[in-house]
Amino acid sequence: MAVQPPSSGTKTGTETFLRDVIDGLSRPQKTLPCKYLYDEAGSQLFEEICELKDYYVTRTEAGIFAHSIKEMAEAIGPGALIIEPGAGNCEKVEPLLTQLDSPAGYMPMDISPEILLSARRRIQARLPGLKIHAGIGDFTKEMVWDELPALEAHRRVIFFPGSTIGNFDPEQASTLLHRFASRLGQGDAVLIGTDLDKDPIVLERAYNDSEQVTARFNKNLLSRINVELDADFDLSRFSHRSFYHPLRRRVEMHLVSLAAQTVRVSGEDFHFREGETIHTENSHKYTLSGFEKLLRKAGFSPLRHWSDSSDYYAIHFAEVR
Ligand SMILES: C[S@@+](CC[C@H](N)C(=O)[O-])C[C@H]1O[C@@H](n2cnc3c(N)ncnc32)[C@H](O)[C@@H]1O
Repeated sequence: MAVQPPSSGTKTGTETFLRDVIDGLSRPQKTLPCKYLYDEAGSQLFEEICELKDYYVTRTEAGIFAHSIKEMAEAIGPGALIIEPGAGNCEKVEPLLTQLDSPAGYMPMDISPEILLSARRRIQARLPGLKIHAGIGDFTKEMVWDELPALEAHRRVIFFPGSTIGNFDPEQASTLLHRFASRLGQGDAVLIGTDLDKDPIVLERAYNDSEQVTARFNKNLLSRINVELDADFDLSRFSHRSFYHPLRRRVEMHLVSLAAQTVRVSGEDFHFREGETIHTENSHKYTLSGFEKLLRKAGFSPLRHWSDSSDYYAIHFAEVR
C-alpha cells in the first residue's frame, strides 16, 4: 500500500485568486471563474445540490453507472491506473475501483483540498490495497499533472464524470481534451460524463431549485471573496439567476446586482448598475454526435457510450488514437 502525501505548493494562492477576481470584475461583462465556487462551503453545497430532486444530473449519471459499471470495468480492462481531475468527494469512482480487475492505482485531483483529502481517507479505508496519490491543484494548469508520480500501469484512464467538462465552453473543452490526450499515450483512455441537450424547462428547474441551494452555492462565492480577499459584497443586494441560452446550448449562472452599488475588493472599487450581472458559471449541454466530434478532434477514438432511457446524460469511453 502506498499512500502519497498531498502535493504541496499547488494550492490556489490568494494572489492568483485576487488577480482572477480583479480581472473578471474589470470586464464589460463581469465574470468570475467557476472553479472558485468550490471552497469547503461551496463543495458542501454542491453535494447538497447533487441530492436535490430538481437536479437530475447526479441521479441520472448514478443510474447509468449502477446499470453499466461492469461493462465499463470490462472496457477498461485489467491493471488500469485511474486519474480523476475535479474528483470532489470521489464517490463516483468507488464502485468503478471496486469492479476493476487489479487496478494499478488511483490519482484524484481537485482544487478544493478539504473535500479531496477526506475522500482519500475514506477510499483508502475501503480499499486498503490501492495505491492512491491525491493532487491538490488546478487541473487546467500543467503543474498538478507534472507532480503526479509515474506508476506502472497496463493502461491509464482519465475518469471525468459529473459533467465537469460542461463548465468549459466548447473551445476550452477541446483544449482540455487535447491536454488529456497529451498526458496519455496510445491505447490509454477517457471515461467522460456529459449532460445532453434537453427540454429547457427541465434544465432551468435543475439550476433554479425550489430549495434555493443553487442560489446559496452561487452567492457563497461572494462570501468567499469577502473573507479571503477583504471585500465588502452585501449578499442581500445580489440575487441568483440561471437560464438556458439556446444558441450557446448552455445554462448560464449569474449574480444580479439588485441596486446601483460600489463594492470594494482589496482596496479596489467596482461599480455595479442595477440589474448588472456577474457571470459565474456555464454548463454546456451536448448532443452525442457533437461530443464525439470534439473527442475525435482532440485525438481520441470514441469506442462506445452509455446513456439513460430518456437520453438525458451520456458517459463516453474513448481511446487515444
Ligand atoms: C461539478 S463538481 C464534480 C465533482 C465530481 N467529479 C462529481 O462528479 O461529483 C466539480 C469538481 O471539480 C473541482 N474543480 C473545478 N474546477 C477545477 C479546476 N480547474 N482544477 C481542479 N479542480 C477543479 C471542484 O472543486 C469540484 O470538486
